[in-house]
Amino acid sequence: EKGGFPHFMLKEIFEQPECLKTCMRGRINREANHVTLSAVIDYKERLLHAKRIIIVACGTSWHAGLIGKQLIETFCRIPVDVEYASEFRYRNPVVTSDDVIIAMSQSGETADTLAAVELAKESGAFIYGICNAVGSSIPRSTDTGSYIHVGPEIGVASTKAFTGQVLVLTMLALALAKERKTITDTVYEEVVKELSVIPDKIQEVLKLNEKIANLSRIFTYAHNFIYLGRGYSYPVAMEGALKLKEISYIHAEGYPAAEMKHGPIALVDSDMPVVAIATHNAMYEKVLSNIQEIKARKGRVIALVTKGDETISRIADEVIELPETLECLEPLLATIPLQLLAYHIAVCKNKNVDQPRNLAKSVTVE
Ligand code: M6R
Repeated sequence: EKGGFPHFMLKEIFEQPECLKTCMRGRINREANHVTLSAVIDYKERLLHAKRIIIVACGTSWHAGLIGKQLIETFCRIPVDVEYASEFRYRNPVVTSDDVIIAMSQSGETADTLAAVELAKESGAFIYGICNAVGSSIPRSTDTGSYIHVGPEIGVASTKAFTGQVLVLTMLALALAKERKTITDTVYEEVVKELSVIPDKIQEVLKLNEKIANLSRIFTYAHNFIYLGRGYSYPVAMEGALKLKEISYIHAEGYPAAEMKHGPIALVDSDMPVVAIATHNAMYEKVLSNIQEIKARKGRVIALVTKGDETISRIADEVIELPETLECLEPLLATIPLQLLAYHIAVCKNKNVDQPRNLAKSVTVE
């Protein structure tokens, strides 16, 4: 049942190229360079006139929502709020019938997310579900939605569901932007084209498994980790930290890199591993100087860089090279080594990777 893998988590990490292909099937047309989501066709008018989108979710799904915010705001120019469902539901939030709520949940059974949906419905908002478990409670209580179709996820630590959620949000942002005419044909076609080769690039990243397994042994001593990223990579940093916490029980924080100097840099010394997502994009120079600040305080840097990078590779202690892609699609690649890093550190520490202590796969109580 684990397909020859020692744990479901590793199996699910390795399934990602295939799962994402399934998620794109019938939605991305490679020849025509076009994205179609049936929900966007069926509810076009309602979605096009959204004055605001509110994404409600918990945990890893909330991290996917933060990436979705950036994608939708960039391409569709619609303001997006991302809320923890548990906070949203008890805050008496301002929701109107012009709002669209996106409820993001792998299981479709998370109690807080379901309650947030019920609350938003009372204000007449339109509810769009992005879920994995077909026929679960959240999809049944929404107006429309898109399944991520990545197949059952057994490992408590969410992996393929996260990349599936990010992929669906990317397709949604593109499909809406095209209808709203807030994206140029050139950018639209470029992103769609690149999306269709993302599964192959993930396959390439998975070849780093052994290297990451070796590297993990060096870091089992750590009691704390910091993960840094900027822009699209900031939620990826938070997701990497959550994975490590959940399964290895090492305390980890994900931070926007520039926030370091506002406090957390005080924690950095030679015992502190810092994972920095430092790929070649508009923020490269900024992240480079954030890394220099860490090195000046003797922090041990594990850098995720774009293949061929020389500058950061020279100053980082460990380097993980990723294939080049568009900045907006980087989360789909940068997430993979962070999943593997958390997995291997937990295995080295002999932890129960698939069923970590105190955690349940779906949180059906609040
Ligand atoms: O099923 P959901 O996506 O609604 O679950 C939300 C969180 O409970 C979930 O993502 C949790 O944080 C995972 N264990 C993360 O790996």
